[in-house]
Amino acid sequence: MDEQRTWWKEAVVYQIYPRSFADSDGDGVGDLRGVIEKLDYVAGLGVDVIWLNPVYESPQHDNGYDISDYRAIHEEYGTMGDWEELLAQVHERDMRLVMDLVVNHTSVDHEWFQKSRRDEDGYREYYFWHEGEDGEAPNNWTSGFGGDAWNYDETAGLQYLHLFDETQADLNWDNEAVRENVYDMMNWWLEKGIDGFRMDVINAISKPEGLPDGDPDSEWVGIEQFTNGPEALGYMTEMATETYDDYDVMTVGECLDVDPETGSDYVGADGPIDMLFHFEHMSVDQKSGWLSPSEWNLTDLKAVFSEWQTDLDGWNSLYLTNHDQPRIVSRFGDDGEYRRESAKLLGTLLFTLSGTPYVYQGQELGMTNYPWERLEQLDDLQSVGKVEAAIEAGEIADFEEVKQAVRDRSRDNARTPMQWDDSEHAGFTDGEPWLPVNPNHETINAAAAVTDRDSVLHYYRDLVELRETHEELIYGAYNLLLPNHESVWAYRMELEDDAVLVALNVDDTETTVTLDDAARTEELLCSNYNPPTEAGASLTLRPYEARVYRLE
Ligand code: NOJ
Repeated sequence: MDEQRTWWKEAVVYQIYPRSFADSDGDGVGDLRGVIEKLDYVAGLGVDVIWLNPVYESPQHDNGYDISDYRAIHEEYGTMGDWEELLAQVHERDMRLVMDLVVNHTSVDHEWFQKSRRDEDGYREYYFWHEGEDGEAPNNWTSGFGGDAWNYDETAGLQYLHLFDETQADLNWDNEAVRENVYDMMNWWLEKGIDGFRMDVINAISKPEGLPDGDPDSEWVGIEQFTNGPEALGYMTEMATETYDDYDVMTVGECLDVDPETGSDYVGADGPIDMLFHFEHMSVDQKSGWLSPSEWNLTDLKAVFSEWQTDLDGWNSLYLTNHDQPRIVSRFGDDGEYRRESAKLLGTLLFTLSGTPYVYQGQELGMTNYPWERLEQLDDLQSVGKVEAAIEAGEIADFEEVKQAVRDRSRDNARTPMQWDDSEHAGFTDGEPWLPVNPNHETINAAAAVTDRDSVLHYYRDLVELRETHEELIYGAYNLLLPNHESVWAYRMELEDDAVLVALNVDDTETTVTLDDAARTEELLCSNYNPPTEAGASLTLRPYEARVYRLE
């Protein structure tokens, strides 16, 4: 347990996906002025930090994760002046702004790639170029979005590596000039006054020499080769020294294929970043491939969280969803009868574990997955790519066959417009929204939640406060109780003389459990049922009931 106190450990982060948050000019796409207009709402949640998904110049094939100019703002989102105003307004409200850093790859429209493909001014070595034999790909790696990780470029007459879409070419970090340019760019943003970086797939920046083949049976072929590569830690450490080590900022790295042991190298006392996003809890319902049904069980989920709580030598980040994941209430809760209760229960989990909680826009409203009907409604290149590739390979006949998997998994579930009110486009835009608005915005929306004291939103505000007043929820040690119980997740958080008991019934039926701690409860700190039932030596929990007690 990492007990040294700092602001970013005590902070709550709110993630804004600008494309879907608020559109100020009626073009159907969210923008920076839209974010500025909603800052009082965000500040009203009590959060401390905003993480803004990429707003840099980009052809938007992957909604900004394909950057063509790191030092310019994408036109649809506004201007650098708008961004500067956003930063000032965030700071005025005593919040901080964390920017996305996407440096594993650039867009193929980036000047570096343009020069690289033409072999100009020494730029060839900025990316990975290979001939391959007889027109074959240089190795068997696949892209995270489906298909080969290599693409032939006519101008260069060679193939280049792309771990994501073919419009996202991987940078060659072994080239010192690449690293220097990236560090310059990071310092440029730091000097503008930002408060940190969220680093995209940062542990994939070092590829092993010779780019060896990966395990052909893995869903993402090559992943064990290109993650945690030989210099990943070294380059990240160099990056920290050359850039943000001199600033009071927070850093969180998205890391593929890490467990608490490998993760500890990155976020431990000497590690280059403060915390990381891992995927282990996001994989519990992904055991049989993206297009298969998503079955999961609570004991697996508990085991993953418990392991990270106890085994990580460093600080945890806590997230249940983001712009790449389905809506959490649809995934691990119940988006029907118990939507409100289960959304609150999942919030309780997020705010009562040790680590920094991240709330994704709309999560505080209990927003749900979208009822996708046709492939054409989807925008995300991962969802569309996976379905089209399966049709092409003859694995499925049509969309209908995998509709449920897409409804469960698609990243577009998180990207449908933020539901501000019950008007035609949910108050997101006056124009035609770039992605459909969920029809349930008529009842699930921010305006309704603000006026309803029993809403998920008010409960989230209460949780932010609870965490602020109970340090054991931030810095405490986690003790899992009833590890094998299939529907109840119970744990104690302890710090010096203070202890709390958290009991969550992750199921739609009432359950009674016997717990020694239930007899020691002193005060009910939080509950998603009103009024809650009394605790005794046993605890009866109603469907999706969540309770937090202070223990004597
Ligand atoms: C992770 C980002 O979160 C995701 O949205 C993106 O598609 C990939 N990295 C590639 O940048």
